[in-house]
Amino acid sequence: MHPDIPQSVMDAVQQARHLVIFTGAGVSAESGVQTFRDALTGLWAEFDPAQLATADAFMRDPAQVWGWYEWRRALLLRVQPNVAHRAIARLQRVLPKVTLITQNVDDLHERAGSSAVLHLHGSLLAPRCFDCARPHPLAPPAGEPVQQAVQPPRCSSCGGHVRPGVVWFGEELPERALAAAFAAAQSCDCLLSIGTSGLVHPAALIPTMASRAGATVIHVNPDPVPVRHAAEYSLQGPAGLIVPLLAGGWLD
Ligand code: OAD
Repeated sequence: MHPDIPQSVMDAVQQARHLVIFTGAGVSAESGVQTFRDALTGLWAEFDPAQLATADAFMRDPAQVWGWYEWRRALLLRVQPNVAHRAIARLQRVLPKVTLITQNVDDLHERAGSSAVLHLHGSLLAPRCFDCARPHPLAPPAGEPVQQAVQPPRCSSCGGHVRPGVVWFGEELPERALAAAFAAAQSCDCLLSIGTSGLVHPAALIPTMASRAGATVIHVNPDPVPVRHAAEYSLQGPAGLIVPLLAGGWLD
């Protein structure tokens, strides 16, 4: 066992009757996925995320915004799930009940073998029509990721612009996923919060909800996370080191 992980924390995870795992950009960092703000480089370096990731920005300049997401989608194809994603998938397999909630728009949890992932901020891989919301499946991007403006495709149903299937600033989170996430947070006995700054609401409420409902809450982050409740812990370190230990030190 890792010397810094108290036995009570190991037990809370490994003996949970209902474990909630709540992930953010930090769980994908060791796969090489840039966080939201780090991804604003090159062509888009001058932009503020709140300027680029909005419906207004897309209406003003669809090619600029679509090009940014197409570049990120191409980068995603070149990375692999890491040991933290795989340890999370193992916890899902071995524990009686695990709800996996992510703020990430990548598919690395699914590629690591996780199922029923609640994507609170949508997905880079589920584009839909800006006007009629009809899903618009896309082939994997060919060739090297390129930083360029790209005209979005047109919807085959109504002719509107196709937009990324992510939640933009100012937009509502997917209702069913959010309701399921809140319900799980309020009924679990343990919640593991991995690699999130906890700054973006309403997702950031999830660990607090679990604490208030009496669950043990464990944060995994290289930075210290302030703890406010008796059964709340901050495990300082990268997800790729800590999460496999919590999952029983095992990898496959
Ligand atoms: P952030 O980029 O805000 O925070 C990432 C967190 O991961 C930070 O607290 C880092 O310290 C931590 N971290 C970095 N490397 C890590 C590692 N190897 N292991 C564990 N943790 C590590 O990402 P999120 O909290 O996911 O929203 O951001 C939430 C939302 O903000 C995103 O979903 C996005 C953005 O605006 C939308 O797109 C709607």
